[in-house]
Amino acid sequence: SQASYDETWRPQFHYTPAKNWMNDPNGMVYYKGKYHLFYQHNPKGDQFGNMSWGHAVSEDLIHWKELDVAMEPDENGMIFSGSVVVDEDNTSGLFQGDEGGLIAYYTSAGDVQDQRLAYSTDEGKTWTKYEGNPIVPNPGIKDFRDPVVMWHEDSEKWIMLLVAGDKVMFYGSDNMVDWSYLSEFGSDHGAHGGVWETPELFELPVDGNQDQKKWVLQVDMNPGSIAGGSGGQYFIGDFDGKEFKLDRGQTETKWTDYGKDFYATQAFNNMDKVIWIAWMSNWQYAADIPTSPWRGAMSLPREVSLTTNDRGEMLLTQQPVKELDDLRGEKLIEMENRTLDGSMSLPEFDERTYEIVATFRVDEADEFGFKVAQGEGEETIVGYDDQNNYLFTDRNNSGVTDFHPEFGGVFRAPMEAMDGYTIKLHIYVDESSVEVFGNNGQKVLTNQIFPSEGSDDLSIYSYGGNVTIESLEVYDLESMHE
Ligand code: FRU
Repeated sequence: SQASYDETWRPQFHYTPAKNWMNDPNGMVYYKGKYHLFYQHNPKGDQFGNMSWGHAVSEDLIHWKELDVAMEPDENGMIFSGSVVVDEDNTSGLFQGDEGGLIAYYTSAGDVQDQRLAYSTDEGKTWTKYEGNPIVPNPGIKDFRDPVVMWHEDSEKWIMLLVAGDKVMFYGSDNMVDWSYLSEFGSDHGAHGGVWETPELFELPVDGNQDQKKWVLQVDMNPGSIAGGSGGQYFIGDFDGKEFKLDRGQTETKWTDYGKDFYATQAFNNMDKVIWIAWMSNWQYAADIPTSPWRGAMSLPREVSLTTNDRGEMLLTQQPVKELDDLRGEKLIEMENRTLDGSMSLPEFDERTYEIVATFRVDEADEFGFKVAQGEGEETIVGYDDQNNYLFTDRNNSGVTDFHPEFGGVFRAPMEAMDGYTIKLHIYVDESSVEVFGNNGQKVLTNQIFPSEGSDDLSIYSYGGNVTIESLEVYDLESMHE
């Protein structure tokens, strides 16, 4: 099936399947020079159902090629979310001799949910299900799913984490096949407004210092998230190969993204940095979004780091991967040291896919920012409220919003100016999304929008006084679909 990728609202630089339903990213792994993205997919329709693993590959994280569906439902149930690791030396004994291969861990969702394994010798195109499945049977917990497997260097063990109701459970293994229970985390920590889903765990240096590393446990939750509906939270602490221990003093929930459309993040395995992608939708209205013949898109790939902010707080920061610069076309706007008081529309601007890189110096303005995807009676506002110190996206008038009562709204992320007066905004506008990275990715807002045809104007504004545009660059972005 070859899509033309010129349908209304078809993302030009975010991954979408040519047709049909998609949710969570799965099995993300870098292997033999290629990034593999599997995903929750209904190959037969544009609603949730027949859950299978779709498959796409890329050599640069930007241009993706959709391959045939990799795993389909079987007599045990649907194939829910999970992960893929490289069994380099045939530790599992599932491969021939010492030729390794890929192992997928997934949830079989039938009458009960349990964890199963499949292996592949053809770079993930086809999979053989293990005879001894399930490898982690259901212990009597209804929501028991989303296994993520990783190699734990210090204890020289394979670790599996999964979600059980609204907590995370950890298992360990020496041979990747036999698993034993280690510990659990979550009952006493974090937000519990919904069921926990799709966990992720990784270690990162703090402020780039290789001698000071911390572990991050990210968990998604549906519903009850900061912007309403489904969203992610993260915990910073230590993991010794058995137990995750939260850092002392972490009482407030740390939200991964303050927009409505960033769910089920997963990072690539087999890499020396953390790059993750999320499903760019929300369970509240995912079934109703007005796109066709596909439904569901992925976020941009983001590099994740741990940084200490001005106030000494440790934060997870997310930055769009550098590879995205390859999509830059013409530089449409360039400005330096301009004082803005009021509103300035950028004449002759008519773009639907572009990138804004801006640094503001906060003066008297109460609020300032951009109005993107502007047209008759339509705009999506990406602004900074300097009275209340938050970064926000307002999509109340962003175009088609009436397909669901929870779609419209203003979504806010608390954010202080850097050094007391600098606000940085890095914004990616695609046909049907706006991703905002504030202050070098300290705060992030990801939202879908469905603007009318012709809503392709851009303006900058300030209310209540001056703001200084220290620098502004706007780049046209090319399509990843050649
Ligand atoms: C998260 C999720 C997972 C589950 C999958 C089913 O969005 O609900 O918990 O495995 O989607 O498609």
